[in-house]
Amino acid sequence: MTAHEISGATAVVTGASRGFGRAIATALAKAGAHVVGVSRDRIRLEELRAELGAGFAPVVADAADPVSAGHLIDQYRPSVLVLNAGASPLARPLQRHTWQTFSRNWEVDVQQAFNWTREALLLPLDPGSVVIEMSSGAAVNGSPLSGGYAGAKATIRFLTRYAAAESEREGLGIRFVSLLPKLTPATDLGSAAVAAYAARDGEDVASYLKKTGPALTAEQVGQSVLDLAAGQGNDRDAYLLTAAGLTPLT
Ligand SMILES: NC(=O)c1ccc[n+]([C@@H]2O[C@H](COP(=O)([O-])OP(=O)(O)OC[C@H]3O[C@@H](n4cnc5c(N)ncnc54)[C@H](OP(=O)(O)O)[C@@H]3O)[C@@H](O)[C@H]2O)c1
Repeated sequence: MTAHEISGATAVVTGASRGFGRAIATALAKAGAHVVGVSRDRIRLEELRAELGAGFAPVVADAADPVSAGHLIDQYRPSVLVLNAGASPLARPLQRHTWQTFSRNWEVDVQQAFNWTREALLLPLDPGSVVIEMSSGAAVNGSPLSGGYAGAKATIRFLTRYAAAESEREGLGIRFVSLLPKLTPATDLGSAAVAAYAARDGEDVASYLKKTGPALTAEQVGQSVLDLAAGQGNDRDAYLLTAAGLTPLT
C-alpha cells in the first residue's frame, strides 16, 4: 500500500476515543482514509466524528470481544487495521497486585490482538492490507509498576510476528507490524504511569521527565502509523517509536 492508496482505503482503529488512537484516526482520516473508530465511549467518538466529518464512522464496542472483532472485520474488510486499544494498568509494585489486576492487559490488550489477528488471517483480508498492533517499549525494558503489562505487550509483539509468518506461508500478502512506543505523558495511560514512576523515585513529574528526555506526542504516533501503513521503506515487523522517530527492531 502506498501513501496514494491510503486515500479511499477503509481503516479500522481500536481505542479511537482518546490518546494515541484518536491521533491515529485523525492522521488516517486527514490522509483520505475512511476511518472506523472503535471504543466504548460514545460521547468522545461522537465528538471526533464532529471534528473529522463523514470520513470517520464511530462504532461503540469492546475491542476485546471476539464477536465484535468478527462482525467488524466481516463488515468493513479493512485494508488498514490498527489494534491500538489498551487497558490502563493499575500502577503498583508486584506484591500489591492481585491476579485479576496483574492480568488486566492480557484480558484486554492480548485478547484483542489475538481475536482480531485470527479474524484477519481467516477471512483473509485482501493482499496488500496492513495490520498494525500496539505493543510498547515496556515489552523490551519491562514496567515494574504495571503488573502484567510488559509481558502482555511482549506477547503482542510475538503474536504479530507469528501472524506475519502465517501470512507469508499462506501467500496472503497481509503485512503485520508491531509498534513499540516509548512511555509518554501525552495520554491518560501514559501520564498515570509517569506520575507513578516519579512518585516512586521521590520526584515531581517535571523533574522525572527531565531525566527521560524529549516526550513522544500523540501526533507523532499518528504520523508514524500513517508512515507504516503506507510502507515508505518501512518493511520490518517491529519498530520502536521515540520522539526521534521509528527505529526498526530485529
Ligand atoms: N501512552 C504511552 O506512554 C504508551 C506507551 C506505549 C504503548 N502504549 C499503548 O498505546 C495504546 C493506546 O494507549 P494510550 O496511551 O493512548 O491510552 P489512553 O489514552 O488511556 O487510551 C486508551 C484507548 O483504548 C481504549 N480502550 C481501552 N479498553 C478498550 C476496550 N476494551 N475496547 C475498546 N477500546 C478500549 C480507550 O477507549 P474507551 O475507554 O473509550 O473504550 C481509549 O480510546 C495502548 O495499547 C497502550 O498500551 C501507550
